[in-house]
Amino acid sequence: MSFSMFRLCGFQILLVIHLAMCQNFGNLHLTGPLKDMNFSVPEGSGVRLIYQFTAEPPAVSFRATGEKDGLLDIVPKTGVLYLNGSLDWETKTKYSLQVESLDEEGQRVKGPYTIIVFVEDINDNPPEFDQLKYTGVVRQNSRPGKPFMYVHATDRDDPSTPHAQLTYSILHHFPNPYSQMLFQINNVTGAISPSMTGSYYLDPQKQDTFTLVVTVKDMAGLTMNAFTSSADVIITVKESLWKAPPTIHIQENSTRDHPVNISQVHSNEPDAIYELFVKEQLPRLPFSVNQNGVIYVTEPLDREKKDTYLFFVIAKDKEGELVDKPLQISVIVEDINDNPPVCQKALTVLEVQENEDAGNYIGTVSATDMDQKDTLNSRLQFKIESQVPAVPANDLFFIQQDTGILQLISRSLNKRIASSYSLKVLVTDAVFQTICDVQIHVIDINDQIPIFEKSDYQNVTVAEDLPVGTVILEIQATDADEPLTGSSYIVYEVKEGDPNKTFIIETDPETNRGFIKINKALDFETAQVYNLVIHATNPEPLVPGVQYNSSSITVFKVFLTNVDEPPVFSREAYTAEAFENIPVNTLVMTVEAYDPEGDTVRYSLEGDVKKWLRIDSSTGKIYTASLLDREQKQAYEVQVVASESNNVAQKSKATFVINLKDVNDNPPRLATNGALFFCHPLSGGERTLIQATDDDEQMFYSTFTFSLKDDTDTRNNWEISKINSTHAYLSPKHTNFDEKVYNVPVIINDNGRPPLEGEINLEVNVCKCSSEKSCFIAVQRERSWPSAGQAIGILLGVLLLIGCIIASVFFHMKYKEKDQKKSHQEDAKDQAELHSLAK
Ligand SMILES: *[C@@H]1O[C@H](CO)[C@@H](O)[C@H](O)[C@H]1NC(C)=O
Ligand SMILES: *[C@@H]1O[C@H](CO)[C@@H](O)[C@H](O)[C@H]1NC(C)=O
Ligand SMILES: *[C@@H]1O[C@H](CO)[C@@H](O)[C@H](O)[C@H]1NC(C)=O
Ligand SMILES: *[C@@H]1O[C@H](CO)[C@@H](O)[C@H](O)[C@H]1NC(C)=O
Ligand SMILES: *[C@@H]1O[C@H](CO)[C@@H](O)[C@H](O)[C@H]1NC(C)=O
Ligand SMILES: *[C@@H]1O[C@H](CO)[C@@H](O)[C@H](O)[C@H]1NC(C)=O
Ligand SMILES: *[C@@H]1O[C@H](CO)[C@@H](O)[C@H](O)[C@H]1NC(C)=O
Ligand SMILES: *[C@@H]1O[C@H](CO)[C@@H](O)[C@H](O)[C@H]1NC(C)=O
Ligand SMILES: *[C@@H]1O[C@H](CO)[C@@H](O)[C@H](O)[C@H]1NC(C)=O
Repeated sequence: MSFSMFRLCGFQILLVIHLAMCQNFGNLHLTGPLKDMNFSVPEGSGVRLIYQFTAEPPAVSFRATGEKDGLLDIVPKTGVLYLNGSLDWETKTKYSLQVESLDEEGQRVKGPYTIIVFVEDINDNPPEFDQLKYTGVVRQNSRPGKPFMYVHATDRDDPSTPHAQLTYSILHHFPNPYSQMLFQINNVTGAISPSMTGSYYLDPQKQDTFTLVVTVKDMAGLTMNAFTSSADVIITVKESLWKAPPTIHIQENSTRDHPVNISQVHSNEPDAIYELFVKEQLPRLPFSVNQNGVIYVTEPLDREKKDTYLFFVIAKDKEGELVDKPLQISVIVEDINDNPPVCQKALTVLEVQENEDAGNYIGTVSATDMDQKDTLNSRLQFKIESQVPAVPANDLFFIQQDTGILQLISRSLNKRIASSYSLKVLVTDAVFQTICDVQIHVIDINDQIPIFEKSDYQNVTVAEDLPVGTVILEIQATDADEPLTGSSYIVYEVKEGDPNKTFIIETDPETNRGFIKINKALDFETAQVYNLVIHATNPEPLVPGVQYNSSSITVFKVFLTNVDEPPVFSREAYTAEAFENIPVNTLVMTVEAYDPEGDTVRYSLEGDVKKWLRIDSSTGKIYTASLLDREQKQAYEVQVVASESNNVAQKSKATFVINLKDVNDNPPRLATNGALFFCHPLSGGERTLIQATDDDEQMFYSTFTFSLKDDTDTRNNWEISKINSTHAYLSPKHTNFDEKVYNVPVIINDNGRPPLEGEINLEVNVCKCSSEKSCFIAVQRERSWPSAGQAIGILLGVLLLIGCIIASVFFHMKYKEKDQKKSHQEDAKDQAELHSLAK
């Protein structure tokens, strides 16, 4: 003790020494009869008195045994229990002594009593990390907040006090290329996880090692004099395991035991749950995935039914939330030769003239194979198996092996010997074979040409707006060859005057009458007259020496008449795509119409109910007229009208559809608007379900996060806990709520791009409940202004209250003053007493 202390407290020291000698402290707290007692002494406090036991006759002295440890003892004569040295909580937290009182002869009078001295912890130990350096591995694109490693520190101080309450933080982050840290640490558990930014930007190609300096503070980090230690954390970034496999090739019609492993995916999260997801409509997806991410094909595939599959693997956690972006799996089904050739017709009927020459083309046998085109699996070969009858020879016909083209081998057919032959043509691919039946009729020679009834059909006048398909003229030629054969059938063809095939001619096979039809829309403005030259021919070749001459040709003219037509749009429908947030006056489309008669065209819009668009009447450019909103209408359709400026009645319309693409422009909100309430008084454990939604387009992995606004009231009263990506529970943190409506500010974030935050002021009614578990609604009492008498009463009441407050403050201050004096005295007494003991 310093000299000045002595001087300062001189009077008290003398007093205390005296009192100690007289076996009395004169202080009720520090002296008393011997009995079981407990004391609490702060560690490291040094030499001091603890207590004085008063001797009750015939006892004259005291004896202490037990865990004195050279630090605690009792002065036999005075009964003073003292501490000679410093205690250390970390070494021993309590000392147990047995104390008895003795008489003159040293015989026990009372006791032994158990005296326990508890050591009070003071914060004298800094926290220590259990390693100087930690290493960890994180995968690219890991989920934000998902720990990939932990640091841990211990503090030797009493864990039940703030002295050992540790809080972790990241002090440095090397390198730190972004405005936000790539990693975060849980201040309580020491769990290190990627931050939002980290989840997005971590990339081993760019930076594969990071060093974090993490610190740990005791006193929950709340005071300036908390102890701090730090450690290095070396983090290696590895490539994401979650990668789509290359395109998978599966041979169709497999005979292996199914399911067959075709690939395997790995989530970055070890306990992810895998699922498959298909966008297209399929009766059944012949694939499955197991819990190790192994993808199986579950049955033999058939390329001829479906030759490619596209689906997604998704990885979810136990709460059903996606932990990674969906991976696209594409499967190509490979062909095997599992389809036989098929004849195109059950019976192919051909004709050949008696006198035809060797090598003449007769016809083609057609067959198909469903196996993959342009592979050996669908390569077909043809061969004549048999010919019935085999007269005058058995090999009258030849078939080209790879084309199926039938030719005549020699000039040997005679209708009187055989008027018809049946061939069996064998069609083979590498594995399968099929027989196609062919019948060949021997017909008369084609020695007559078609002769037109008229060589000039003169003039035909038609309106330009006659519909396609209209017959504008019938023509007739005759052929004297054998009826109903290729020698007499007449094929009419426009040989000249119609470069664009505006007309076609069909033949009635019975009568050989020709019908000239409009094949394409006529247009006076393009062509006003057609000079047509028509040829009539037979499908069978003419015998040598006979030729088509001018009797097989006819001509006529087609005159078009003009009709005033409305403007014509370049397209029937126009579509555009735009983001819903494009500014007003953005050009979204240019439509174009022209008037066949060359009049100027004016444009206008019809059906623009939302007044979102405007059109430039002369250029056809369509601009936005106001802000668009996908949530009101995703595909906005209007009619564009084009009219002749000289005759507005002549108009035509086209549709214009603008498809709005979503922009995350709606903050999340609560889905339910029903009143939330809790029954008063609360009994604890109450909670209520809340659901978030968003008007923006909901991707199939949309996720909301819930939190409460960080203000003291809300933090102390309410708690929000997430259930899954759309739901959470709101629960009161305690039961001490008044009967009233509380405003709970809830914050919901979406995962759109850009992410948006919605703050919702949730009104929660804490109310008396009626039996049906709903608020009991009392009839409202009428409110009115107080009368003059009431007002005076209130005023007096307020004055009285103020008086009371002033009085109590005054009283309190006095009391405190006294208290402080008392504690000063006690400290001094302890010190003096020790000195007297040491003597
Ligand atoms: C002293 O503390 C011990 C352990 O906490 C307890 O069992 C005992 O009752 C206490 N004795 C007194 C006298 O308070
Ligand atoms: C206190 O401890 C010191 C040494 O540790 C010893 O010399 C001294 O006698 C002790 N005093 C009493 C009163 O026990
Ligand atoms: C620990 O983290 C929680 C949640 O992030 C935060 O509310 C709290 O204030 C933090 N405590 C300290 C001491 O930083
Ligand atoms: C499944 O097949 C993939 C390759 O296709 C292979 O890497 C993986 O190890 C297989 N998994 C099992 C469980 O057989
Ligand atoms: C599979 O191949 C066999 C012969 O190899 C064939 O008979 C069967 O029709 C084929 N199945 C499918 C679905 O193609
Ligand atoms: C056909 O039209 C031409 C040209 O206009 C005309 O000279 C001729 O007289 C017309 N023939 C008939 C039969 O109307
Ligand atoms: C044929 O088509 C071409 C190109 O479309 C056009 O320029 C020409 O005027 C057309 N001719 C007739 C006679 O329709
Ligand atoms: C065309 O040939 C036929 C016989 O094949 C004949 O009767 C006819 O007179 C010929 N016509 C012309 C214009 O020479
Ligand atoms: C989320 O939880 C709520 C309440 O338990 C349930 O109704 C809802 O279907 C769940 N949604 C999903 C996506 O799991």
